[in-house]
Amino acid sequence: MGKEFKGKDIISINNLKRNEIDLILDVANEIEKNPHKYENCLNRKIMIPLFFEPSTRTKMSFQMAMMQMGGNIIDFNPDLSSRKKGETLRDTSRMVNGYNPNVVIIRHNKDGSAQLVADVISCPVINAGDGQNQHPTQTLLDLYTIKELRGKIDGTKIIMAGDLKYGRTVHSLLTALNLYKDCNVTFISPKELRMPSDFIKDANNVKIEERDLSDLEKSLRDVDIIYMTRIQRERFPKGFEGDDLYEKISRKYCLTLDMLENSGNSHIKIMHPLPKITEVDKKVDDSKYASFWKQAENGLYVRKSLLYLVTGGKNEE
Ligand code: CP
Repeated sequence: MGKEFKGKDIISINNLKRNEIDLILDVANEIEKNPHKYENCLNRKIMIPLFFEPSTRTKMSFQMAMMQMGGNIIDFNPDLSSRKKGETLRDTSRMVNGYNPNVVIIRHNKDGSAQLVADVISCPVINAGDGQNQHPTQTLLDLYTIKELRGKIDGTKIIMAGDLKYGRTVHSLLTALNLYKDCNVTFISPKELRMPSDFIKDANNVKIEERDLSDLEKSLRDVDIIYMTRIQRERFPKGFEGDDLYEKISRKYCLTLDMLENSGNSHIKIMHPLPKITEVDKKVDDSKYASFWKQAENGLYVRKSLLYLVTGGKNEE
């Protein structure tokens, strides 16, 4: 299953067709249900995770996926690497290529960095987030979670709330939902952090509405899912202007248990790529609405699926 994926880079959700996404999600589901069948499928394969930006979930779930499927990992700490001496990403990548790994994972603060690495490295390269551009593996686990919650992705009604300007997860998710039928997306953000127009223009198969932040509570009534995002402070303009803007915006929005209980929508679920800071009240954490813990767990199955597919892993039937 999925032989066409062997050797493929996963750089942008734009490079995946709907049937390819569906296959990745089906394999992830098979792995979640039958982990023992995949315990040795990456024997002797080596992953190099090049994380130049902080990560908890993405890095840990890739590492766990590799280890639980019998593979090995070369760790990389950018602060203890020759980057500190000024080595470029291109040179680091070229050198990594010479060591002949089976898969490379890259997270970097520059848009386009994942493609730059993939152009230099001959084994499959997986983008774990490049600047404010794309985070395709997050999107795949988001789609997996939506399918788990609703039984299908077609017809999803979802609010995307928070930092829609700098949040790469909502950019990739909107692009992916465009491949499915009858999806409705409502954007709710501070006016300084609206979804960039290019992403809206490209999502012409999605019914899109933009609402004011003050409409957050009443909008909960009409949707299956609210996808909350953190304000991406690290991507704001540097200096006083950015700090001031952050303080102003971050005080403005927080999803509370009361808002959810008063919405009259007992089926609504909250997704969040995490980490969450102040945008979701902690009383929500253990409520029936919180889907973000399982969403994070789903990252393990989706990343196992990707590693298995792109490295041409062999499972035990
Ligand atoms: N969702 C996500 O990318 O989390 P990390 O930054 O912790 O990897």
